[in-house]
Amino acid sequence: SLSNKKTSTIGLMVPDITNPFFPELARAVEDVMQLYGYTTILGNSDESVEKEKQYVEVLKQRYIDGVILASTALTADEVHKFGVPVVVLDRALTSDTIPMVTSKNREGAREATRFLLAQGCRKIAHLRGPAQLLNADERCQGYLDIVEQTDWFHPGLVVAGNYEMKQATDATLALLKKYPDIDGIFAGNDMMAIGALRAAQILGISIPDKLAIVGYDGITMGEVVYPELTTMAQPIYDMGALAARMLIKMIEKQPLDTLYYELDVQLIERGTTRKV
Ligand code: RIB
Repeated sequence: SLSNKKTSTIGLMVPDITNPFFPELARAVEDVMQLYGYTTILGNSDESVEKEKQYVEVLKQRYIDGVILASTALTADEVHKFGVPVVVLDRALTSDTIPMVTSKNREGAREATRFLLAQGCRKIAHLRGPAQLLNADERCQGYLDIVEQTDWFHPGLVVAGNYEMKQATDATLALLKKYPDIDGIFAGNDMMAIGALRAAQILGISIPDKLAIVGYDGITMGEVVYPELTTMAQPIYDMGALAARMLIKMIEKQPLDTLYYELDVQLIERGTTRKV
């Protein structure tokens, strides 16, 4: 905090409160914070770097002890300027001086794409996340690692996206009209996968027989769509809890064992890939 008075309050910045990934993450952060006697204040930046910076300024004036940024595209320099302990959660920065918790994005994306191939898919598209995000790049790179050498791959199979459902529906409608022989989609997150599922349903394409879909995240919503979503699940709760523990250590001036954690992901097979 600005004064040396400890307030036992921390700020948690999320980029999109309407995406269930972030409430699930926030729940974990808050659980751990509460356990250690801290209060969590939540801010939503709507994917805007400006809004995020303003939020952190306001939070500092209220004397918070630290911040968890589950956030957008701030640079390491900007984060260093905050003047309070910061842990970056989920969306890593290219920096080796800022404590971070993320998941094995590239590896997970490779495995998801390989799985689609093993399911018999012969032309797999990728709905990618926002251009400015490292984790979106890594997931796209993981997909490319697997498909780039195939005889069917072409750059038109990588579709720009923003991790939002509605945009993914529109993008998938256009994609499937242009390339009707696509039989697999790996989406950079679950909300986009659910958007793609909706597009397939609008077009009357049967899932998973004609088109298989794999998401990334493992949000609970994936269990209630039909067919249920196959996904590369991140350990969402563990990621939030670990970031919270790291921030508490920093606030309480204890050493961190490691600065950078990349947690394992796990494929959860459900109806959008299960051949019937
Ligand atoms: O669904 C939200 C996405 O944004 C997740 O995949 C997460 O990793 C994040 O950066």
